[in-house]
Amino acid sequence: MTQYLVTGANRGIGLEFVNQLLARGDRVIATSRQPARAAELNQLSGRFPGHLKILPLDIAAPRSITELVREVEMLDLTIDVLINNAGVLSKGEVFGEVEASALEQAFATNAQGPFLLTQAMVPRLNERAKVIAISSGLGSIARAARFGTPTYNISKAALNMAVRMLGHALAEREIAVLALSPGWVRTAMGGEDADLNVDQSVSNMLKVIDALNFDADAIGQFLGNTGDPVPW
Ligand SMILES: NC(=O)c1ccc[n+]([C@@H]2O[C@H](COP(=O)([O-])OP(=O)(O)OC[C@H]3O[C@@H](n4cnc5c(N)ncnc54)[C@H](OP(=O)(O)O)[C@@H]3O)[C@@H](O)[C@H]2O)c1
Repeated sequence: MTQYLVTGANRGIGLEFVNQLLARGDRVIATSRQPARAAELNQLSGRFPGHLKILPLDIAAPRSITELVREVEMLDLTIDVLINNAGVLSKGEVFGEVEASALEQAFATNAQGPFLLTQAMVPRLNERAKVIAISSGLGSIARAARFGTPTYNISKAALNMAVRMLGHALAEREIAVLALSPGWVRTAMGGEDADLNVDQSVSNMLKVIDALNFDADAIGQFLGNTGDPVPW
């Protein structure tokens, strides 16, 4: 049985990861900023007794990361697959009015958090574990063809570099690290016009994650939800 940890698991893509993983018999540590308010997760915990632990995490707060790792240690859990999913996108940003606080929040949530969480969780990662960062096509510098959602795009590009750095740092332990783009998905973040249902995106991504193996010649790749490479 594989032990997963999914951040930002109370709604959207994170919640669907938890749904699909529990349905196929895996074990999940699901994190949420406010576990007591995570109604769907709490229901799942009743339906899958012993398979789901719900723990608090604000990925943008380093102290919260430290507390989560301590809790995972106290529960004596080790992790096979860490899915850094929590993310934030601020809509309606206008050039000329982008504020430092917006950049800081995007960076702390989308790039700094996944890097620090992975680094702190290393002692709890099993040999040949997998570390996934849910990135975005909007983090691709090669594909940036217009001005839009700058704090998000900048932070996801930084996340992509964090993935490469983590890939090299963890290569000695043969831990595969992957930046994975879910596609454009109908969630609160993606909106109603998005291409993909959340269940389709997540089932595609799980196929990519299942097939992922450590490869010394492909450290820290950037793939789309069907497994095709995304240009950096
Ligand atoms: N939807 C898309 O089209 C799309 C496309 C490309 C990439 N992505 C990426 O996919 C991931 C999931 O997105 P989604 O569409 O599921 O978005 P969503 O529906 O807006 O959900 C975002 C999740 O992240 C959590 N989160 C935000 N800030 C957090 C923080 N500081 N600490 C802990 N959790 C935090 C939210 O928790 P709260 O409920 O507490 O706010 C929520 O659980 C994100 O990394 C996003 O960038 C999405």
